[in-house]
Amino acid sequence: MTDTECIAILGAGTMGRALAHGLLRSGEASAETLSCTVRHADRAREATEELGIAVGTDNALVVRDARVVILCVKPHLAVPLVRELARAGALEHDPLIVSIAAGVRTGSLEEAGGRALHVVRAMPNTPSLIGAGMTVVSGGAHTGAHDLELAARLFEPLGRVLTLDEEYMDAVTGLSASGPAFVYVIIEALAEGGVMVGLSRKVATELAAQAVNGAARMVLETGRHPAELKDEVTTPAGCTISALLALEDGKLRSVLARGVQNAAQAAAGLGDRSHSA
Ligand SMILES: NC(=O)c1ccc[n+]([C@@H]2O[C@H](COP(=O)([O-])OP(=O)(O)OC[C@H]3O[C@@H](n4cnc5c(N)ncnc54)[C@H](OP(=O)(O)O)[C@@H]3O)[C@@H](O)[C@H]2O)c1
Repeated sequence: MTDTECIAILGAGTMGRALAHGLLRSGEASAETLSCTVRHADRAREATEELGIAVGTDNALVVRDARVVILCVKPHLAVPLVRELARAGALEHDPLIVSIAAGVRTGSLEEAGGRALHVVRAMPNTPSLIGAGMTVVSGGAHTGAHDLELAARLFEPLGRVLTLDEEYMDAVTGLSASGPAFVYVIIEALAEGGVMVGLSRKVATELAAQAVNGAARMVLETGRHPAELKDEVTTPAGCTISALLALEDGKLRSVLARGVQNAAQAAAGLGDRSHSA
């Protein structure tokens, strides 16, 4: 983005605000070039205070000036919102539309716009709030390499970014967007184990969370296969192998893998519901 190109975030809720903070922190946008909207006026006042930029409720007004429009509303509201913007004539300057709505296909947004809209679909996750997110972006029928690069740049301040074909987006939603929730349950369960063997809940939670953090960093930073790293912790006749066998008896691997599969299937269903909205 240049110093004068404007970005509009429609839906400054949990994810919209994370994105706004990231854009302001990285210098990709400033108070002069970033505008946000929400639905309710009282929430607009709260968000204005939190972000230090003007947050309003008039979508068409901010979209008319924007080079990039980021849709951060709930999935069932994304298509009606684009339809409403098209009806108001707010998309005639062909801004890049970036949608983070789970399950909503670029084709549905293009159709709602009623013109050859440049649409990028992006799937971030909540660790974006602390700059440790994972975002995957994919292009629609009318997006070029430049659009994808621009969209990727918007999410880089929030963590890692990958570009994939749209056919993988429901799978991405099931794994990296829902994934933090699975890991919170794992951390909680590990901490319960620590409490069971005598640690305080506070100490047990810190130990469990840092074990997950450290293990994740080992995978990402060494590029080594998780199985190889696991084998290094597993001494013959030791305590780790005894625990691993108990986890295998409980079908930990297939339970987690099926969780991802279920989440991906549900993500595809969110898109279906938004078509009829
Ligand atoms: N949360 C996640 O982990 C996650 C991860 C990846 C992607 N996503 C996607 O991110 C999107 C937003 O999720 P969220 O968790 O951030 O939701 P959220 O916290 O409920 O935020 C939604 C925001 O949209 C605003 N809004 C509703 N209708 C609007 C309209 N017509 N015009 C402008 N703003 C409007 C709401 O305003 P009010 O507050 O005034 O009602 C609220 O600020 C969803 O599509 C979801 O699929 C979420």
